[in-house]
Amino acid sequence: MRGEAPPPADRTRVRRNRDADWDAWPVTDYLAENYRQLHPCDIGVIRHHAAVYRRHAPHSLARTLELGAGPNLYPLMLAGAASRRVDALEPGAAGADYLRRQLDRGPDESWQPFYALCRSLVPALPATLAEALRPVRVVPGAAGDLVPDSYDLASMNFVAESVTEDFDEFAALCAAFVGAVRPGGLLLAAFMERMPSYRIGTGPVWPACPVDEAALRAVFAPRTTRLRIARLAKDRTLPEYGDTGILLLTAERPA
Ligand SMILES: C[S@@+](CC[C@H](N)C(=O)[O-])C[C@H]1O[C@@H](n2cnc3c(N)ncnc32)[C@H](O)[C@@H]1O
Repeated sequence: MRGEAPPPADRTRVRRNRDADWDAWPVTDYLAENYRQLHPCDIGVIRHHAAVYRRHAPHSLARTLELGAGPNLYPLMLAGAASRRVDALEPGAAGADYLRRQLDRGPDESWQPFYALCRSLVPALPATLAEALRPVRVVPGAAGDLVPDSYDLASMNFVAESVTEDFDEFAALCAAFVGAVRPGGLLLAAFMERMPSYRIGTGPVWPACPVDEAALRAVFAPRTTRLRIARLAKDRTLPEYGDTGILLLTAERPA
């Protein structure tokens, strides 16, 4: 994920996932900084992910996962044609509440430009964003709650590297993500590149683990096949989060 770069971190203590209060994730500030308008990096991520979903016929995937969904609707809308059921897994109360409100009362107007782009790239998507979100279910839970072999496709955007300072824990989160799909299942992910722990607005510092392409290859290559990693340049229209760009990953779990 994305947040303002904090002052130099206290390196005497590595903050793990359980050390942060994910129920208190600052949804309003996060949306304001990242998703109230389409940024160049969103266009890049959506283009990358759309190319995967476009290859799948409508309703051809029985069950797909959005791991650590947070309040970001665009990965969920992209799945809305191919997937018959999308589990938006989110441990934090604030993010899950926002998602439920979007599904129950209709999406905020600010998501419409995102949907127009998604639909231009995935023509099988339905006419309205509300329809595209119909297969989505909000599921309270974290990566550690995933049941192996459950999904045809798993997607994860700005999560494993944005929720812990511990590289081993980052790797374990990625391993749970890979294991969540059935053998032969598809993996689709976006990571902030080299982002240190960060702030959103004026709130607390959230733990992050700076990763680069080599780190992603070290974690994913032994567990996957057809691994591909692409890169987007740093988006200077976002607040300064200390990242150097975005890494985009596709892979498959070996059959
Ligand atoms: C930086 S935000 C990214 C949100 C969203 N995926 C996006 O694209 O903007 C990180 C998200 O991961 C969630 N999270 C934190 N710990 C997690 C865990 N152990 N497993 C899954 N999600 C987690 C947080 O609650 C938060 O919603």
